[in-house]
Amino acid sequence: MNEEQRRLVDAACRQRERSYSPYSRFRVGAALLGRSGTVYLGTNVENASFGLSICAERAAICRAIADGERAFTAIAVCADGGQPTPPCGACRQVLLEFGPDLVVLMAGNRGADGPVLAATAGELVPLAFTDFSANLADERAGASGEEQGPK
Ligand code: THU
Repeated sequence: MNEEQRRLVDAACRQRERSYSPYSRFRVGAALLGRSGTVYLGTNVENASFGLSICAERAAICRAIADGERAFTAIAVCADGGQPTPPCGACRQVLLEFGPDLVVLMAGNRGADGPVLAATAGELVPLAFTDFSANLADERAGASGEEQGPK
């Protein structure tokens, strides 16, 4: 990890302290680095209706988008527990939306001084569902062409 990445991991760890997680008591912090150099922080926000809980990674993405930034180079995720916590499937899909090269740094409660895993958003979602508009275009082309319907 370079110095910028270490700082991002440590920012995610500090952000964990803002977690609203009275149900799981599992605190997660995220720090998302925009191309502009701005860091957007997020944390998990739980709800009495458990399924409505939002993860730290998606909270950070929403914050960045609301602030007008859409290009990102890295995101650090830091959770309670000694081992790195890889993002859930929903967060992986949402991160991938902003590019397969986004670097995802996963840390445990010791931050940059403990074990840190790194993977790209593309690596975290093999065989991803991405550009549905390309499929729609194929579909429309087929509808007006000869390939449509039984032979
Ligand atoms: N959580 C995250 O914030 N990010 C993840 O990628 C995995 C799970 C949160 C959601 C919930 O508040 C708690 O961790 C336990 O699942």
